[in-house]
Amino acid sequence: MKYFIGNWKMFGIPGSIKIVDRINKFLNKDKKNNKKYKVIIAPPHTLLQDFSQKFKDKKISISAQNCFYKDHFGAHTGSVSAFMIKRLGINHIIIGHSENRASGENDVILKEKIFTALKNNLNIIFCIGENKIQKRKKLTTKVLKKQITKVLKRNYNLKKIIIAYEPIWSIGTGKVPKTNELKKTVIILKKFLKLNFRTKHNFQILYGGSVDNKSIHNFKLIKELDGFLIGGASKSSKKFIDIIRNFYK
Ligand code: PGA
Repeated sequence: MKYFIGNWKMFGIPGSIKIVDRINKFLNKDKKNNKKYKVIIAPPHTLLQDFSQKFKDKKISISAQNCFYKDHFGAHTGSVSAFMIKRLGINHIIIGHSENRASGENDVILKEKIFTALKNNLNIIFCIGENKIQKRKKLTTKVLKKQITKVLKRNYNLKKIIIAYEPIWSIGTGKVPKTNELKKTVIILKKFLKLNFRTKHNFQILYGGSVDNKSIHNFKLIKELDGFLIGGASKSSKKFIDIIRNFYK
């Protein structure tokens, strides 16, 4: 099963539901391939209730983009907890996106977020990725391993966690890793995850960063990848659908 997950970031108003609707219609029509993949769209919090209701029991699923690190209710102005998200009928959440890390989310906070998301039975898309300097210094795998071990714990329900590898230098830049380099990183990560967590579970790893209808032609050569986290190109139904089309071409 491959994942195509759209991360809308700070984008969307109620009328943007037409984008999700068009993608869902495509999924229904794509009889040849639609059993091979799963599409999830992550709109901002403001649209979660409406979208999750409208697409309840539909092929497409709706995900949250983040949550507060403490659960349930509390005096935290402007915050939304995993408990509140789950009660909307949402089953997925993105945690640890580099944009959120850049605005102050550290490993301690992320650990709490993962804990509350799991407690509320949410499936997690956990983002990791190195920056340009770390890449230049050849620290990529070291950084990624540290981001994983600092936040994920052996006793977690690891089957609920999907890893999204998103090199920071690639997000929104049009720059993508070389196919062979990316393949190598994904293989190293998969091996590491099994060894480190002493599990037989095959972790799923997605790639994110400038995925579009062109770059997908290279990414699809990497059999080890379990799917994609798509930012910019997920805001247009046509661009998003073209990614799926080109993947199965
Ligand atoms: P991008 O963003 O596809 O616009 O590069 C990916 C992401 O930030 O998840």
